[in-house]
Amino acid sequence: MTDPTLPALRRALHHAERYLAGLPDGPVAASVSGEQLRSRLAVALGDEGVDPQRVIDDLAAAAEGGLLRSGGGRFFAWVIGGALPSAAAADWLASVWDQNAALHACSPAACVAEEVAGDWLKDVLDLPRQSSFAFTSGCQMAHFVGLAAARHAVLRAAGWDVEDQGLCGAPPVRILVNAHRHASVDRALRYLGIGRRGIEPLETDALGRVRQRALSAALEQRRTPTVLVLGAGEINTGSCDDFAGLIPIARDHGAWVHVDGAFGLVARASRSARPLLRGVELADSWATDGHKWLNVPFDCGVAIVRDAAAHRAAMSIRADYIAPTDSAHDPIDWTPEWSRRARGFAVYAALRELGRLGLERMVDRACRAARALVDGLGALPGVSVIAAPTLNQGLVRFLDPSPDAREADHDARTDRVIAAINATGEAFFSGTTWHGRRAMRVSVVNWRTGDHEVARTLAACERALRSAGPHTTAGA
Ligand SMILES: Cc1ncc(COP(=O)(O)O)c(C=O)c1O
Repeated sequence: MTDPTLPALRRALHHAERYLAGLPDGPVAASVSGEQLRSRLAVALGDEGVDPQRVIDDLAAAAEGGLLRSGGGRFFAWVIGGALPSAAAADWLASVWDQNAALHACSPAACVAEEVAGDWLKDVLDLPRQSSFAFTSGCQMAHFVGLAAARHAVLRAAGWDVEDQGLCGAPPVRILVNAHRHASVDRALRYLGIGRRGIEPLETDALGRVRQRALSAALEQRRTPTVLVLGAGEINTGSCDDFAGLIPIARDHGAWVHVDGAFGLVARASRSARPLLRGVELADSWATDGHKWLNVPFDCGVAIVRDAAAHRAAMSIRADYIAPTDSAHDPIDWTPEWSRRARGFAVYAALRELGRLGLERMVDRACRAARALVDGLGALPGVSVIAAPTLNQGLVRFLDPSPDAREADHDARTDRVIAAINATGEAFFSGTTWHGRRAMRVSVVNWRTGDHEVARTLAACERALRSAGPHTTAGA
């Protein structure tokens, strides 16, 4: 007898085929409002259920126009990757197999796939092979894991067992951070009992890299348990901290170094991009994402920790009813979750599909596309390049042509042009404020972005610039 799940899955495949067919050429922006979506989705919840195939058909119909085609090759906003074919398919299997990847005993295959994917990642990123790792829901939680291990280790060195004694009465932990860190670092610290006042931003250069003298001065102020958070891939410029210069200084002062490499760490896989991350392997913990530059579906971050014992001490838990397997990597000992999705299958699939060279080519292609986009935009009238990509991120600003235009007018025009580009449906960008001025971010991480997508995007930007007109608010 056919399993009752299969007809629903066939409908899902049908809708997936339609969605994917529209990805190369369809409009990138969503076209229906939240209100419309609410009126479609908020049907009365009946007392009796609905046939599974109809549930899927109705869901697909209701979502029509409400999906941002961020998985396509003309999406350059934020840092959102796509899903490689085998990674998307493996993720479907993870749902159908419905494994609880908490314990080897619950799913030997899910746990071993994570083990292998974790080892492959350390290998392609060339990070210390003895490090431990954890697959998390995203980089936010990868920070939580890395910083929990850091908190454990620096307090243990000060004679304090934080898992046993908690934070009340503990020696204060000093947190030094790159002033341009991602906000998810602050939130991970908040989860760990370290509030905003405990975070000390370090001065950076124009590209957002921590200055060595700022670090040295901060460390020399006082000797106390210290964690330093550096960045591999600043979200606006893609810049990376000078790890080779900074980490030895931190080490000399006994500080733990954690790196936010949500997307930038993946550039280690490319021989040409790698010099930008020189010395990153000297850190103590690294957080990165599967669902950004690695192009696996959402719900995948990765924490890698040099001191496996500190990592395990910060995360591991025991209960009478669970059976750890001594010889196995039981994710419950390394992640903040109990029951959890089998995230390793998609990462395993993506890395196998790409191979080392495929991963390198994907990284290089994104960097080339980012440069071509920023160069092409910069060649258009009234476009100022604020940050040319050194990696996969760049910034441009659209200048108000009025002779007496002020910064506020350029800001307004920049936001207007971004909206005009997005309204074409041809491409999608987002804005940011960099050093007090509005700019458009150009972010490329999708495996589908190639020369054709770049050319089509530039043509659309040129048209949108013309349609945004010379209108100015100067003097208003
Ligand atoms: C540099 C950086 N760090 C951390 C994060 C948080 O990652 P996630 O959204 O996967 O939790 C992001 C992205 O959103 C990011 O770009």
